[in-house]
Parts: sequence; C-alpha cells; structure tokens
Amino acid sequence: MNTTNQQSKIALVTGGSRGIGKSIALNAAKRGIGVLLTYNSNPEQGKAVADEINKNGGKAVALQFDSSKVGTFDDFVGQVGQVLKKEWNRDTFDYLVNNAGIAQRTLIKDTTEDIFDQLVNVNFKGVFFLTQKLIPLMADGGEIINISSGLARFAFPGVAVYGSLKAALEGLTRYFAKEYASRKIRVNTVAPGAIDTEFGGGKGDEAHRQQIASMTALGRLGEAEDVGLLVASLLSDDSRFVNAQRIEVGGGIMI
Ligand SMILES: NC(=O)c1ccc[n+]([C@@H]2O[C@H](COP(=O)([O-])OP(=O)(O)OC[C@H]3O[C@@H](n4cnc5c(N)ncnc54)[C@H](OP(=O)(O)O)[C@@H]3O)[C@@H](O)[C@H]2O)c1
Repeated sequence: MNTTNQQSKIALVTGGSRGIGKSIALNAAKRGIGVLLTYNSNPEQGKAVADEINKNGGKAVALQFDSSKVGTFDDFVGQVGQVLKKEWNRDTFDYLVNNAGIAQRTLIKDTTEDIFDQLVNVNFKGVFFLTQKLIPLMADGGEIINISSGLARFAFPGVAVYGSLKAALEGLTRYFAKEYASRKIRVNTVAPGAIDTEFGGGKGDEAHRQQIASMTALGRLGEAEDVGLLVASLLSDDSRFVNAQRIEVGGGIMI
C-alpha cells in the first residue's frame, strides 16, 4: 500500500468519514501515513473508512468529534493522546488537516443569528480552538493544513458568512504559521473549488452543475479525489519550505 517512505508519520484528519476528508485519509494512508480520522454524526461511515485503510495494510482509527462543541475538545484531545499511545506507541502526531466544515445557503437578508453562530462555530471557532489544543500533541516540524474554499476569494449569493469565514481561516493560517514557527510547524491553506460531494446539500441540478463546469477552465466539477491527492502529497518533507501559503484546487475556476 505504501508509495513513499512516510511509515512513521501520523495524520489527524477532521471530517475524514466522507467527501474530501475521506479522500485525504485514504490517500494519506496509501503513502504509509497512520490516520486518525473523525466523524461527527455518522459513526458507520467513519469506521468504514478506518476499516478500508486497515484492510489494505494501513493503520487508522476513527473518533467522534463535533467542531461546534469547544467544551468537549479537552476530552477529545485526551482521547487522541490515548489512541496515539495505544495504537502507535507515540505521544505525538505529525500532520493536522482541519477539513471538517459545513455550509448553509442563505442570502444575507435571511441569515439568522443561529445560522451565523453555527457557521462560525464549526468553520472558524472550532478550528481555532482544536488547533490550539492539539498543537501541544504535535511533533516539532509537523504540518497543519486548513481546508478553505474558492469562496474565500470570489463571491456568490447565499454564502456570505461561509465565504467570509473561509477568508478568515486563510488569515488565521498565516498567524498560526507565525506563532508556531519556532517549533518548525508549517501551516498552509488548501482551497478546493467546486467539488462534487454532498457538502451543503450537493451541487444541485444538471443545469447548475454545467454552469459551474463552464466557469472552470478544465471544464468540469472537481472530485473529492482531486483534493485528497493534493493534500496527501503535501503531507511530506517534499513541501518542507512551503509555509503560510494558499493552494487552490479548483481546475481554474473564475480565472
Ligand atoms: N465540496 C465542495 O464543493 C467544497 C468546496 C470548497 C471547500 N470545501 C470544504 O472542504 C471541506 C470538506 O467538505 P466536503 O465537501 O468533503 O463535505 P461533506 O462531504 O459534507 O463532509 C463533511 C465532513 O465533515 C464532518 N462534519 C460535519 N459537521 C461537522 C461538525 N460539526 N464537526 C465535525 N465534523 C463535522 C462530516 O461528518 P458526519 O457525516 O459524521 O457528520 C463529514 O465527515 C469543508 O471544510 C468545506 O468547507 C468543500
């Protein structure tokens, strides 16, 4: 299963149970990286991804994690520490991929405080505090990848809060890179374009999908695998001097 010599490394991928996170988890495992993946509401899907990796000669564990509940993060970090010890006989891990996220299509005029808070909690506040609390468990020289969105850069009606939070996450990437540089932890952003997953209710009817494809230089929607392959390739010393950067994986959307 291993395609590179990453055998002793471990990655934690949030939202690794389906969509883009699943592809990141599977492709990291193919490179010999041990995977700790999380699901939120669907344990079966989380465990299925871990089983697939374990069956194919890799090593993975699935844990429940809800990015909107900061009060549970200390317990989660404790669980991560226990799993690292039990399964890998390590106290640290190497790569954190902050992938879990949600969207809700709502025009600004219809955006309630509840919707706003939910989007902030999962997509920004949760990422901030999870990273803050997990960094003590990360090995020096490790790497963090924050999954943003093309919508951080270009505006469409209905995603004002979501897109703005992804822009904020890109800013946060640079701040984490600055404050943890002394530990040689690199922090980068990967920004998917329009990717064909169930995210935010999916990509809609055929006409809408064709419209997105026509705005994309490569002429199609992205697949989870497009992002998974790129992110997994970054989890390596091959990108050892890439820091505080944003890489868009969108096939040339809106150029
Ligand atoms: N798809 C796109 O077009 C696109 C484009 C740009 C950026 N992105 C970004 O890419 C990332 C992954 O998107 P995706 O398309 O793979 O989404 P997805 O198919 O909807 O999968 C979302 C994943 O996140 C988990 N999750 C949902 N709510 C959570 C919460 N409150 N706490 C922790 N985990 C939670 C889900 O777990 P459960 O199923 O167990 O709840 C699932 O594993 C997101 O950050 C998204 O913003 C996506």
